[in-house]
Amino acid sequence: MTAISGREDDIFRPALHYTAKNTWLNDPNGLIYHDGIYHLYYQNNPFGNVWGNMSWGHATSVDLISWDEQPVAILCDAEEDIYSGSIVFDQYNTSGLGNGQTAPLVAIYTSAYKDSSARRGTQAQSLAWSSDGGCTWTKYQGNPVLDRNSADFRDPKVFRYNGPPGSYWVMVAVEAEEHKVVIYSSDNLRDWHYLSSFGPANATGGVWECPDLFPLPLDGDEEQTKWILTVNLNPGGPNGGSGGQYFVGHFDGVAFTSETTVTDGSSRTADLDAYHWLDWGRDYYAAVSFNNAPDGRRLMVGWMNNWQYGAAIPTWPWRSSMSLVREISLVTNQGQPRPVEIIEVTFIPESAEEFGLIIRGNGTNGTRIGIRPSEDRLIMDRTSSGNIEFHDAFASAYTAPLKPTSDGSYTLTLFIDHCSVEAFAHDGQVTMTGLIFPGSDSNLLSLYAIGGTATAPCLEVKRLAEPPVRIAEPLVMSR
Ligand code: FRU
Repeated sequence: MTAISGREDDIFRPALHYTAKNTWLNDPNGLIYHDGIYHLYYQNNPFGNVWGNMSWGHATSVDLISWDEQPVAILCDAEEDIYSGSIVFDQYNTSGLGNGQTAPLVAIYTSAYKDSSARRGTQAQSLAWSSDGGCTWTKYQGNPVLDRNSADFRDPKVFRYNGPPGSYWVMVAVEAEEHKVVIYSSDNLRDWHYLSSFGPANATGGVWECPDLFPLPLDGDEEQTKWILTVNLNPGGPNGGSGGQYFVGHFDGVAFTSETTVTDGSSRTADLDAYHWLDWGRDYYAAVSFNNAPDGRRLMVGWMNNWQYGAAIPTWPWRSSMSLVREISLVTNQGQPRPVEIIEVTFIPESAEEFGLIIRGNGTNGTRIGIRPSEDRLIMDRTSSGNIEFHDAFASAYTAPLKPTSDGSYTLTLFIDHCSVEAFAHDGQVTMTGLIFPGSDSNLLSLYAIGGTATAPCLEVKRLAEPPVRIAEPLVMSR
């Protein structure tokens, strides 16, 4: 295999995914649609391409596909790093912040206090406000606004709740080490009152981070609205390292009650297949949704990386990108409501024990994305996907549960970019996101079957951007 570093010619910079031009990024923060613009803030090191100096970077888009990098929005200082959080539009100026003329955007972020601070070693929630549509930000003088004297209290997601008990701001945040989501309310974004907590439950193999809570109509029926609580955890994801689980249930304005809790989180031999995952791949983390997205859409973005090897991925001068923006909805599937996305390609199984596609191949290497019908599994194998040497934990083949549709077929949609693939099976009921680092000449797409045959009656390739995809003859492999 040719050595590929990405350093010389930046061959891995995505065409469709957001990445900062020259610097490091991780979690999406402060996602909001405001005045016709989608704002994507994010954990950013403005001074380097590894984690550190955590500040909020900023990008804007009108179509959720092409993004423009903006100046750093909230910069770390001697006393605090600016960890993850969210932004609300304070339409009626409940906070009293702003310039007195324009209703402010208010950011609620985690202050991670440094050694020079009197609060060193703790994390608390703070505010900053913007009166110019999210370009420039001023920290609130009274920060922090919510302090539990905890070292691991972070990642506030704030939204406006309107329900039978009233209309107020709700914050979900984590006590990360305790595997708990804590829920608070406020009338003015400055004074917060404890409401309840949720957890531990289901997956607890790592710290809980970056929660979100939002309603979704079941099968499009507003009368049957459920609430979804998402919690990212690291490590302990479904295929190693970082991952995101979700719970479906009810929020009454005070407490979240889950209908999908299977265990109390104390099990050391947990069956991860029994839980619900936002994505089964290894590179979809810290996912959160936009506030105020138009037409009631629930749009979610994840950090397309994994803390296991994230700092070592072979890209330069930038490092890490965001996932594509995904629309989340809730459908009944075998009795279970699940988020869905969009879809295209079909396979009909025959005698093959495994079949699927090899993407970004060069005739020798490639990434295998397939189905093992007798095991009811979707598989993604990146053990010979290109540059795998940069970290021991990277090369891997991993799977997710996947049953055929009611007519016995399987459908897959793949979004392939210069260093990633996002796979959506069966209308997005199962998704799998993986980074890959193939050579720039690895653009071959092949169908394959192992140990027998399978049919692909429909295969549509849409070229949205470089690199070109060349379709090869189907491969029939034997064991
Ligand atoms: C998740 C996370 C958050 C924290 C941020 C720091 O990836 O660890 O919990 O706020 O990253 O960059």
